[in-house]
Amino acid sequence: MKFFIDTANLEQIKEAEELGILDGVTTNPSLMAKEGITGADNIINHYKQICEIVNGDVSAEVISTDFEGMIEEGEALADLHPNIVVKVPMIKEGIKAIKYFSSKGIRTNCTLVFSVGQALLAAKAGATYVSPFIGRLDDISTDGLHLIEEIRLVYDNYSYETQILAASVRHTMHIIECAKIGADVITGPLKAIEGLLKHPLTDSGLAQFLADYNKGNK
Ligand code: G3P
Repeated sequence: MKFFIDTANLEQIKEAEELGILDGVTTNPSLMAKEGITGADNIINHYKQICEIVNGDVSAEVISTDFEGMIEEGEALADLHPNIVVKVPMIKEGIKAIKYFSSKGIRTNCTLVFSVGQALLAAKAGATYVSPFIGRLDDISTDGLHLIEEIRLVYDNYSYETQILAASVRHTMHIIECAKIGADVITGPLKAIEGLLKHPLTDSGLAQFLADYNKGNK
């Protein structure tokens, strides 16, 4: 299972990278804005900085909603660095763009996916990744993890190579449940990833080991 961090915060990206388990980064325009990164030039520059920190896939999102605009933007983004994956929204023009990018060998992440039908189309178009937003489904009383299960089933039925990138992961249990279902990738905040570390018996056990070691040194 690959771990991506879902942020445009360079400090958090560095921290996750230093942990040694980071496989990539996903961003979106809202995450960029949260870090105060606005304007095309600043956003491009920020993608370059992220690519310098992480040796893994970095999703960079197109803003255009028409086919020609998506192609122009996506090709420019893909030229920035070999690790860039062009993030394309799940709309009609987006599917056409994913098909085009796929035929050109440009990797894509189909974003804003909320149904198994959308995920099926993304795979048919040749998306490298599909991003179902599980947290946002949970937000509206719909089981986000169930969508991951359904997509896993459909993709396995036909051996689609599109990787399921569980997005809008909000907490540690989302990661664990996605691992049980067989999502290929999760992307979430650093806090959710670090939650995997935690167990009170680890903390108390370590405290006891250190206390006992120190007894012997007195
Ligand atoms: O990767 C998609 C993600 O950025 C959306 O997360 O928490 O805004 O629903 P969230």
